Amino acid sequence: MAMVSPSILAADFANLERDVEAIRRSGADYVHVDVMDGQFVPNITIGIPVVKALRRVTPMPLDVHLMIDRPIRYVERFCQAGANLLTIHVEADSQEKIQDALRQIRLLGVKPSISLKPGTPAEAAEPFLTLCDMILVMTVEPGFGGQKFMVDMLPKLRALRNRLDQVNPDCVLEVDGGIDLTTAPKCTGSGAAVLVTGSAFFRSPDREKFVQALHMC
Ligand code: DX5
Ligand code: ZN
Repeated sequence: MAMVSPSILAADFANLERDVEAIRRSGADYVHVDVMDGQFVPNITIGIPVVKALRRVTPMPLDVHLMIDRPIRYVERFCQAGANLLTIHVEADSQEKIQDALRQIRLLGVKPSISLKPGTPAEAAEPFLTLCDMILVMTVEPGFGGQKFMVDMLPKLRALRNRLDQVNPDCVLEVDGGIDLTTAPKCTGSGAAVLVTGSAFFRSPDREKFVQALHMC
């Protein structure tokens, strides 16, 4: 069964508690939190105080996706703020710094994860595969919700799944961007186990049914 991680990027930021409660009631598995710094991506969203505030109002595991430059500067604070899974981008710093950051995240009791932008090949994940509990494959260019799913990311998913089966079989693959009931089965068919969904979730007239259908993908 696929896991579902609705992204609050598509929520009403003036009603976050209400919308996070809607995510919980839908039967989803995580709350996906998109952090953007206006540097690594051309958009600015939310940060540490919001993760802290969410931690106070929900028992849901927080799947925090850092789209920020040199994330090692902030991983400790995001872990302390209440992240359960913390994803950093391999493009955001040197190999050594990303490896250090992943080790730090694990030492703080949080699940470490890396993400690859669409233009980054599967091989770029190689130095990090055994340090991660999850790998997030972006299926849109990071920065904005509501974009079109990039079907040409499917071979990358398959390649990563095959490689993980050899070196770290417990590590799961997550997809993020343009996920709906049409694109989700393509992703799970290529090895994805966690589905992020922003606009499709919040647009859905029956979110519980929508999550149930994604679970079956
Ligand atoms: C994009 C974010 C995504 C985004 C997905 O940079 O990482 O999590 O919210 O939104 P949808 O599902 O609308 O593509
Ligand atoms: Zn995301």
